[in-house]
Amino acid sequence: MEKKIAIVIGGLKGIGKAISLDLVDKGFITYATTREKNVATNVENLFPLQINIRNEKEIQDGFKHISEQYGALDVLVNNAGVGEFKAFEEFDPAEWEGIFQTNVFGIFHCTQQAFPLLKKRGGRIINISSVATKRNLPFNSIYAASKHAVSGMGSVLAEEWYKDNVFTTNIHLGATYTDIWKNVEGFSSEDMLHVQDVARVASFVATTPLHVRIDEMTVTPPKGVL
Ligand SMILES: NC(=O)c1ccc[n+]([C@@H]2O[C@H](COP(=O)([O-])OP(=O)(O)OC[C@H]3O[C@@H](n4cnc5c(N)ncnc54)[C@H](OP(=O)(O)O)[C@@H]3O)[C@@H](O)[C@H]2O)c1
Repeated sequence: MEKKIAIVIGGLKGIGKAISLDLVDKGFITYATTREKNVATNVENLFPLQINIRNEKEIQDGFKHISEQYGALDVLVNNAGVGEFKAFEEFDPAEWEGIFQTNVFGIFHCTQQAFPLLKKRGGRIINISSVATKRNLPFNSIYAASKHAVSGMGSVLAEEWYKDNVFTTNIHLGATYTDIWKNVEGFSSEDMLHVQDVARVASFVATTPLHVRIDEMTVTPPKGVL
């Protein structure tokens, strides 16, 4: 059977890396993007792709490469994201623009580039969003706004693109232990999801047959957000 092709945006660190590895385990040829140069994965069927999603040309070149190699794509995982958590009045506009350039506009560009490849034989888009879109968490305004933007886009694309057999799933994710939590006081990794938990959910969506539509999932540790 023909191998399926996936790309994980931000696929070599944290949650994205766990998703990339799990997709390879499920039989996907997987491209994992990173801003870093000259990276080797040493994993069969896991290919690094150097893309800074703040750079439109790099995004175009990355998807062109997949198009030239395989001519189609089965799964796009929009995982890359950054956050800054503080009182709204303390933000410099340059900071919120930076967060939106990555979390929103970068993800929009990837999604637009992926669509022609996804519709070749039908496929899925998985947006790694946040429970910050479900619960109003203080000191989270800009990050939450960026994730609302991505979830909003995903929900509408689910209506626009189902006719092309392209389905979008927003995963509203609770606290998951990665490097971003390492220096944050007052939180315990034991109260969080593991990256492998998220990978399991993403792979479930990625491998679900295309007559099933999964618009939304909220995935948290037992206590809820945290
Ligand atoms: N951890 C949590 O508790 C949690 C909860 C809810 C949602 N999320 C979401 O889950 C996603 C992954 O988070 P994480 O905890 O795994 O964070 P992380 O370890 O800090 O990883 C961030 C990822 O985003 C990529 N990235 C950042 N800026 C980029 C840019 N300009 N261009 C391309 N890639 C860029 C990084 O790639 P490189 O550095 O390799 O280039 C890296 O793969 C994020 O969207 C985050 O908002 C996380």
